[in-house]
Amino acid sequence: MSGLPSSDTLQLVILHAVDAAPITDSRTLSLQLPANVEGAQSLGAPRVIGSGADEQNAVKGALDSLVAREMVTSEQVTVDVHGLTAEGNAIAQNGSHEYLVWSALPPLDGTPLTAQEIQAKVGKDVAKVGQGNAMKNKWVTKKGDGFVKAVDTVVDSTKEALLAIQSTGAHADEKLLGDLRKRKLVEKKKSFYFKVAKGAKFSTTIEKVETDLTVELLNSGAWEKASFKKYNFDAEGAPTNGGALHPLMKVREEFRNIFFEMGFTEMPTNRFVESSFWNFDSLFVPQQHPAREMQDTFYLKDPVTSTGFPQDYYERVKTVHQTGGFGSTGYIYPFSKEETSRLVLRTHTTSVSSAMLYEIANQPGGFKPAKMFSIDRVFRNESVDATHLAEFHQVEGVVADRNLTLADLIGFMEVFFAKMGVTNLRFKPAYNPYTEPSLEIFSYHEGLKKWVEIGNSGMFRPEMLEPMGLPADVRVHGWGLSLERPTMIRYGISNIRDLLGHKVPIDMTERSAAVRF
Ligand code: PHE
Repeated sequence: MSGLPSSDTLQLVILHAVDAAPITDSRTLSLQLPANVEGAQSLGAPRVIGSGADEQNAVKGALDSLVAREMVTSEQVTVDVHGLTAEGNAIAQNGSHEYLVWSALPPLDGTPLTAQEIQAKVGKDVAKVGQGNAMKNKWVTKKGDGFVKAVDTVVDSTKEALLAIQSTGAHADEKLLGDLRKRKLVEKKKSFYFKVAKGAKFSTTIEKVETDLTVELLNSGAWEKASFKKYNFDAEGAPTNGGALHPLMKVREEFRNIFFEMGFTEMPTNRFVESSFWNFDSLFVPQQHPAREMQDTFYLKDPVTSTGFPQDYYERVKTVHQTGGFGSTGYIYPFSKEETSRLVLRTHTTSVSSAMLYEIANQPGGFKPAKMFSIDRVFRNESVDATHLAEFHQVEGVVADRNLTLADLIGFMEVFFAKMGVTNLRFKPAYNPYTEPSLEIFSYHEGLKKWVEIGNSGMFRPEMLEPMGLPADVRVHGWGLSLERPTMIRYGISNIRDLLGHKVPIDMTERSAAVRF
């Protein structure tokens, strides 16, 4: 099929056709124009446009413009047509299975072919169906162990019917059509065409319509004679491409607002790469702790180490690990400078909290009470599954003040989580190397009908705080939770890979709802 004319030319073709007589079936529209009309040459020899979907869609496009200008009226007619399946097309080209079997056989007086020999010649699939049909049609007959032609000539009516359907989309014999459908050689499809008649503003020439009333039109006075395109109040506006926050960032905003409301300041978290010193040692995590293993922590290859931590403080941390102090016996092992210098992708934001606590202990004027929070990315060398990624976000808060107690921590958790809409908390004793006591925080999940862990918390150890230079009566609460878990609950997402990563559709961010705690 040669190419379709442009929409402008097709519009003229339709107008000239309608001028002669209403179009009753746009599938039979002849592509031609009087020689003096623009575009006539581009059409080439007259031909019928045909019933293809592309062709009728082009007609639809041209009609939409003409109808909008009231130059024509049109009506779409939907009809059932029959088309060939892939197998049907093959038969239309090569002949039916029974025909192929018949052709493969020798004449009545020849040497018969066995079923296996037929299969070898025409293929298993053709042989299976073809042999039976050819026998039924009495085209072939049995001779000894094999088969021969029973007649010299046959009419392959299946092929002929298919060829007819291929060109017209129909067949007069309904029963035959039904049979061919059952044999999956033809299938019913929907097709459409148009009826077209003259409209109120019919003309065979298309006047240029103005889409805007411009200064030029007003100045020249041309506006008086110009015709204007009608507003289409039914048109959908172009989708706007506004910015949107990722669901995690929306929930992060909610958390930030809760923290700010409670008088917290935000800690700087722009250090994804951290020395083991801040990530582990300053937190009194022993250097042999299993969480430091390669399979739990990402260690950097280049550069491998950094010693960017205060020397005197380093000495105090080393001593407290090796021999204790501040009322502690320590871990009693040789502390390795090499180990503490190793760079890691931070495994928790508590590395940031630790560095900040050191800072407030050593600020000019000495320690002042502080409430600080952070929400940012952390990295763990985990195998990825429905609820784990190798990186996620932590929400972390620390409160430092004189004489805080465990009751203060519990009371604080209750206020904090209530602001997120989570009440009904339970606390379970837990273990962190840097906090004592430590508490896991559980909340009753109405949907899952069970208690789920929502966070981890504790009171930082004196072995961690006092080497920093914090006064002995200063207590520090800390707690952490993941940002992903509450986000997944908010958005009803059960697989974390639907929230983050390469499998997430690119427009998920734009389509996701706002969130409010
Ligand atoms: N760092 C802990 C975690 O990764 C959270 C925590 C922070 C616990 C502060 C106690 C104090 O789970």
